[in-house]
Amino acid sequence: MKIQTKNLNKDYIQKKGPSLKVLKDINLEIQPGQKVALIGPSGAGKSTLIHILGLMDAPTSGKVFIDGVDCFLMNNRYLCDMRKENIGFLFQFHYLLPDFTVLENILIPVWKNKVAKQKHALEILEQVGLSSKTNSFPNELSGGQQQRAALARTLINTPKIIFADEPTGNLDRAIGIDIENLLFDLSTNLGTTLVLVTHNQELAFRADRIINIVDGKMVR
Ligand SMILES: Nc1ncnc2c1ncn2[C@@H]1O[C@H](COP(=O)(O)OP(=O)(O)OP(=O)(O)O)[C@@H](O)[C@H]1O
Ligand SMILES: [Mg+2]
Repeated sequence: MKIQTKNLNKDYIQKKGPSLKVLKDINLEIQPGQKVALIGPSGAGKSTLIHILGLMDAPTSGKVFIDGVDCFLMNNRYLCDMRKENIGFLFQFHYLLPDFTVLENILIPVWKNKVAKQKHALEILEQVGLSSKTNSFPNELSGGQQQRAALARTLINTPKIIFADEPTGNLDRAIGIDIENLLFDLSTNLGTTLVLVTHNQELAFRADRIINIVDGKMVR
């Protein structure tokens, strides 16, 4: 799916002092299937931007178009369905549910159809290299395996766009690179649009495109 923004601004109201301008006139266009690395210093606005592109938070002004639809003109129901059907998120922390097995965790986004989806879930587990941990609980996995399980859960809906916010930021570097490479390969195979916040230069160079955010602005 194609993502476009027009003069996107985000201000945060602070308890003390003037409101904080976090995103300043962001105009970007991400083509369907494109893989984008989002880089920039801490506090630059990267997470804020992907929350808005992923329709989890509204901009203060400006527009977000997904496949040409001006999303924030639509009602909550539309935003919710759009997120559920087309958008996948992967965060630094995995948010796996501790009392559910790996397989159950992966089926959570499709729980109503969990029986029908089980075969697909097992295939995804194989793709992320976790077949041997299907019936384990999250606390029985290593950090890297937990993040692979989170990736599998993101993939169960075959999202058309994946937003990943430093998904391997708290892992050992080599393990992190492995998982980010896997994320790239899987999104290439599936034709998914990928927007990845990363501090890893090598990985950023694997992307089709690098977007650099500094102090809330896109810079070349
Ligand atoms: N809910 C909020 N209320 C007020 N200010 C916020 C809020 N969320 C973020 N900010 C501020 O917005 C700015 C951008 O934050 P953001 O999390 O988008 O940065 P980032 O580029 O993702 O940084 P990092 O690389 O450290 O994750 C920061 O100055 C932060 O303090
Ligand atoms: Mg961030």
